[in-house]
Amino acid sequence: MHPSAADPFDLRDDRAYAAWRGEKLRNAPASVEELIVDVDDIAALRPQERAAIAERLRRGNVAVYRCATPVDREALRALGRQFGLVRLDRNEMADDDGISSIQVGPDAAHREFIPYTDRPIRWHTDGYYNPPARRIHAMILHCVRNAASGGTNTLFDHELAYIALRDRDPRHIEALSRPDAMTIPARSDESGVARDAQAGPVFEVDARRLFMRYTARTTSIGWRADAMTQAAVQALESVLAAPEAQRFTLTLLPGMGILSANVLHSRSGFRNDPQHPRLLLRARYHEPITL
Ligand SMILES: [Fe+2]
Repeated sequence: MHPSAADPFDLRDDRAYAAWRGEKLRNAPASVEELIVDVDDIAALRPQERAAIAERLRRGNVAVYRCATPVDREALRALGRQFGLVRLDRNEMADDDGISSIQVGPDAAHREFIPYTDRPIRWHTDGYYNPPARRIHAMILHCVRNAASGGTNTLFDHELAYIALRDRDPRHIEALSRPDAMTIPARSDESGVARDAQAGPVFEVDARRLFMRYTARTTSIGWRADAMTQAAVQALESVLAAPEAQRFTLTLLPGMGILSANVLHSRSGFRNDPQHPRLLLRARYHEPITL
C-alpha cells in the first residue's frame, strides 16, 4: 500500500493506526502549562505567537492564549480569521454577530440552558445537536470576567479519547461510528424555538480529520438500542472518568482564552461575585482550523 493511502482511522489498518497513535502520544502536551501562549494582541498576532499557538493545536488540538491587551468581540473575530475561521455558527442564544455571551442568564429563556446558569456542564463537544451542515469544527472561548470561585474547564483531546477507546476494543469505535449511534430528540418550546431530531455518529472522519460529536448528559439523548452501542457508551464514559494525565484543567482568568478544534470539554459549577459576574465570550466555527 502506498504510504499516502494509509488511514489511521480505518479499523482494518492496524499499521497506520499504530504509527499515528505512537506519534500522537509522543507529541501530546504533558501539562496544562504547555498549552499556554502569551500574546500581546490576539487581533494581530506576531508570527512567532501565531506559530506557538499553531504548534499547540498541532500537538493537542487546543491552545490557551493569555492576552496582554483588552479583547473585544471584533478582536475575537480577528483571532479566528488568522486561523482560517470565518463561518460563525449562529444559534438562538447568540448575539447578532454570532458571538455568544456566556453568563448567568437574566431571563427564563436563558435559564433553560445549562451554559447560561452557574451549574456544572458534563463532557461534550460543542454543537452535538447541530445538523451535519452546521458541524462545529473549531471554537474560541474567551474570559472577560471569571467567577468568584469555580467555573473551571477541563479539556480532553478527542483524538486521545479515540485512542483510549480503540485500545480497549476497536468494536467500540465501530459502534460509535454508525450514523444512528446517538440521537438528540426534537425540541420545541413556547417561544417557538425548535429543532428537529438529530441522529448521527459519535466518531466521524472527514478529509482525514477525526470529528467527535458527544454529550455525557443522560436525559434527552437516545443511544442506539443494541448491546454493542451500550457497551461502547459505557466504555467511553469510563475513559472520560479515568484519572489520567491526558486531560487538562484550568480556570480562565480575564484576558485568557481557549482556541480549540472542538475537543471534549466540561465545566465545573461556580459562584459569582454579583458585582462582577462571570462573563465568557464564545465563537463557534463551521470550518476546521488552518494551521
Ligand atoms: Fe461547550
